[in-house]
Amino acid sequence: MLFNKDFMLGAATAAHQVEGNNVGSDYWIMENLEHSVFVEKSGLAVDHYNRYEEDIDLLKRAGLNAYRFSIEWARIEPVEGQWNEKEMEHYIKVIDYCLANGIEPVVTYHHFSSPAWLITKGGWESPEVVNYFERYARYVTEHVAGKVKYVCTINEANMRLQMAFLIKDITERMSKQSEIQNQEGSVQVGVNLSQNQSQMMMSMMETAKAFNIDDPRKVANFVSQASEEGDLLVMKAHNAARNAIKSVDPSIQVGLTLSLHDIQWVDGGEENAKKAWDDEFTHYLPYIEKDDFLGVQCYTRKIFDENGANSSFETGTKTQMGYEDYPAGIVNVVRRCAEEFKGTIIVTENGIATSDDERRCEFIKEALTGLNDCITEGIKLKGYFAWSLLDNFEWQKGFSMTFGLISVDRNTMERTPKKSLKVLGSFMEK
Ligand code: GCO
Repeated sequence: MLFNKDFMLGAATAAHQVEGNNVGSDYWIMENLEHSVFVEKSGLAVDHYNRYEEDIDLLKRAGLNAYRFSIEWARIEPVEGQWNEKEMEHYIKVIDYCLANGIEPVVTYHHFSSPAWLITKGGWESPEVVNYFERYARYVTEHVAGKVKYVCTINEANMRLQMAFLIKDITERMSKQSEIQNQEGSVQVGVNLSQNQSQMMMSMMETAKAFNIDDPRKVANFVSQASEEGDLLVMKAHNAARNAIKSVDPSIQVGLTLSLHDIQWVDGGEENAKKAWDDEFTHYLPYIEKDDFLGVQCYTRKIFDENGANSSFETGTKTQMGYEDYPAGIVNVVRRCAEEFKGTIIVTENGIATSDDERRCEFIKEALTGLNDCITEGIKLKGYFAWSLLDNFEWQKGFSMTFGLISVDRNTMERTPKKSLKVLGSFMEK
C-alpha cells in the first residue's frame, strides 16, 4: 500500500508561520499591539527564511518528493506598487533548491497574512483587492514560470466566512466567558478567545488605529469575518489571479484551498449539516469549477443535530487545538469533494497538533491508508501534504501547538526530525 512516484507526498508550511521577521505584514502589526490577542509574537519564527536548505534536505532524506510553501506578498510588495526584486529572488532560490533536489514545489500565493498597506486600503472587503491580488499574482508568475507546476492562489479561501460564523456565535454567547473559549476549536485555525470583553474591545480599537481605519468592525484582514460580498470577493480575486497566471504560463496547474470539516449528522441534524456543507463548500463550486485542482484541508469532523454542531457526540480525544482527533475526516472529505468537484484533488493540509509523536504516526497511517483506498476507487487524488513540516507559529495561539514532523529548539534553531517524518516518507514507493 505505497504511493507511486507520480503522487506528491510532502509537507506544508506557510511563510509567516515559519520564516521570521515578516515586518511588512498585517500580522506583524497585530502581534505587536499593546493589547494584542496573540499569546506571543512570531518574531524570528523558526528562521526558515535562512534555513530552508536544511529543512528541504530533511524532507528529502525522509523520502518525500514535494514541498508546499507560500510566498509572502508583504515581502514582494511591501509598499503598494513597489516590487522588491531581492525578495522575489529569495523565493526563486527556494524553488530552485527544491528542483535541484527532485522536490516538486507547490507554491501558495496568499496564506492568511497580507501586506499592511492592503488592510489600510480596506483589505479583503474592498473590491480593489481583486486588482491588487491579480497584479501581485501576475508579477510572481512572471518570475516563477517554467519552474513551478502547481500554484494555490489563496489558502483556505473560505476562512473569512467561517470567521463570520464564529464571531456571530460568540456574540450570542457574550455573557458566558467559559462558553466563548470553548468555541476556539470550531475553526481549523489558531484563534485565542481567552481575553475578556474589555481586553477584546481594546485590541479591536488598537488594531483599527494601527491600520488607520475609523470603525474597528471594518478592519478586514484575511482571517476576519467576511460579509457576504467579502466572501465572494475572495472568489473574484482567485478567478482574476487564475486568469493572470494562465495568461503568463498556461501550463501551470492552478487551484485554491478550502478549510473543510467532515460534516456528519445524527437524527434530526441533516438539514443543518447540509447547510454547513453548502457554506463551507458547495456555494463556491461555480467559482472553482474551471480550476485544475482543488486543495482540500481537513483536521477534524463536526456532528450536527437539530440545533447545530454538537461536540457531545464526538468520541475521540481532543488535540491541542481543542477539536477532536479524527484521522478519518480527511478521507471522508476527499470522497465527498470528488462527488461534486470534477478536477484533480490534492490534500494540501492535514495533520494533528499533539506532543505525542506516536499518536501522530498513527494518525498519518490511518489517513494515508484511507486516501490510498480513494485512489483505488478511482478518485483523482494527486498529492498529500502533512501540516506541517516544522513546529511553527500557530497564529494567535503562538508556538505551543506542535503540528510539526520536525521539532525546533527556538533558542538555537536546531532541528530534530520526529519519527512521524520517517513514517510519512515510508508511504512512498522506493
Ligand atoms: C489553516 C492554515 C494553517 C494552520 C493549520 C493548523 O488551516 O488554518 O492553513 O496556517 O496553521 O491549519 O491550524
